[in-house]
Amino acid sequence: MTDKSITLMPEDIQRLIGKDAQRNNIAAAKMVSEVVKTTLGPKGMDKMLVSPTNDIIITNDGATILSEMQIEHPAAKMMIEIAKTQESEVGDGTTSAVMIAGKLLENAEKLLDSKIHPTVIVKGYRLAAEKAQEILSELSMKVEFGDEFVLKQIAITAMTGKGAEDSKEKLSDIVVKAVKQIQENGLVDLDDIKIEKVKGEGIGDTELISGIVIDKGKISPDMPSFVKEARIALIDVPLELKTLELKTEVSISSPEQLQKFILQEEDSIKEIVSLVRESGANVVFCQKGVDDFASFLLGRNGIYVCRRVARSDMRKIAKATGAKIVSNLNDLTQFELGSAESVENVKKGDDNFTYIRGCMNPKAVTILIHGGSEHVMDEIERAMRDGLGDVSCVLKSGLVVPGGGAIEMEISRRLKNFGQTLSGRERLAVEEFANALEFIPVTLAENAGMDPIDVLTELRAKHDSGDKNAGLNLFENKIGNALEAKIIEPYDLKKQEIDSATEVANMILRIDDVIASFPSKKGKMNFDGRNNFMNELE
Ligand SMILES: Nc1ncnc2c1ncn2[C@@H]1O[C@H](COP(=O)(O)OP(=O)(O)O)[C@@H](O)[C@H]1O
Ligand SMILES: [Mg+2]
Repeated sequence: MTDKSITLMPEDIQRLIGKDAQRNNIAAAKMVSEVVKTTLGPKGMDKMLVSPTNDIIITNDGATILSEMQIEHPAAKMMIEIAKTQESEVGDGTTSAVMIAGKLLENAEKLLDSKIHPTVIVKGYRLAAEKAQEILSELSMKVEFGDEFVLKQIAITAMTGKGAEDSKEKLSDIVVKAVKQIQENGLVDLDDIKIEKVKGEGIGDTELISGIVIDKGKISPDMPSFVKEARIALIDVPLELKTLELKTEVSISSPEQLQKFILQEEDSIKEIVSLVRESGANVVFCQKGVDDFASFLLGRNGIYVCRRVARSDMRKIAKATGAKIVSNLNDLTQFELGSAESVENVKKGDDNFTYIRGCMNPKAVTILIHGGSEHVMDEIERAMRDGLGDVSCVLKSGLVVPGGGAIEMEISRRLKNFGQTLSGRERLAVEEFANALEFIPVTLAENAGMDPIDVLTELRAKHDSGDKNAGLNLFENKIGNALEAKIIEPYDLKKQEIDSATEVANMILRIDDVIASFPSKKGKMNFDGRNNFMNELE
């Protein structure tokens, strides 16, 4: 018997228990997967995201959409977490992972309706996921390390649907070359690849540059535009006078005093410049400001200077040239300098760039994306990052699977057969897991304007008759052998998708009590999914 007179928690704490908690969480998770559903695949649509400051992003990329939306619901946030994990682990496949998770939960709801206990569903899903991984691994195929053709196809499959179609040959070639250049013993650190964007010319003019390119030019016309055998200093303190405190008063009562004050200032700048010169540097990248007088003196000494260089660029230049970032000018000696064959100021359109070529570490590369507008270039960058992620995955494991929904259909079919061998109620969960995987080809078809039911029926029939690579070929909007159509994806991508989706679905299913102590804007946590879900859009 419960004692009504006992209060465990303060009154403003919101609580949802049992079925209510489950339904509410499932509804929110489903909504997340609905949001990204229409973007899946090469024929997926784009979303336009407008920030409170009116910045616009136009994208087809699941990870970007979800991270830009101001989602509040706790279960929905868990879905977004898996998108992030997927993105950081393999750099692609976020939409698919979120959609499979959403479908697993939707199907779990049916099982809950027929009075199957959540722990049974969780157990069944876990069993199914293990079996799915086993099947996936059986179906994966080895590619030869040097097989550039396959790697290019992987890049193309990753990039389709993100505005890269017209230049897919060129872009996929760049992606493969970039990854191959930076890989070492099968290990790839994508941080070694820098992406810069230049407004002007077309996407097809995108180039791969050996070395580092930064979007800053030299700061004074007196400086050389080309420095051979560059000795590079990286400085993260300002090359200017310390700005006086706001309240500092300098009282000057005579012209002589003023003259003296100015000379003192000049002397301290000269001191700074001579420290740089004495180190032997002929190129300086400064993370902070460089004032006009310092820039004039440095220029007169033939030193090339860029100022306000982004921290991430400083780190990349350090890695590429062997330079050490210096925070105190007195520490700057020849030993802190990095080296490169040349540093050049290059003007592209209205913008100036600095090219650092022939770096000590030949693995540093930059992809210079060209395009007519920021929005287009941003989306090409996201496409290329997906391509880079997928190609590096395949270089690591050497394993690929057919795309276009083929692999999901085959796993689904074999899982259903496996389900038949089980006796308990978990069997139903295994079947629902298998059904959830079919959501990928169904959605690919739907997004391409094909009839999802016809497609599913035909795909099932083909797989039943042993055509394990049958999938959607959305180059031609038809069903066919995905491998022959060169629609190939990394094995690791699918592996991670299954892992992430199962993990989050099971985590959400195990929750039967939500205790929320944080007030929402309206003073109460609102469990009615929609209101809280996208509070910014209201
Ligand atoms: N030419 C194509 N024909 C059919 N399916 C394709 C094609 N290119 C890519 N796909 C499929 O599109 C899906 C990936 O879509 P995408 O929008 O990139 O989502 P995700 O965020 O999950 O990577 C994969 O299932 C992949 O096999
Ligand atoms: Mg993708």
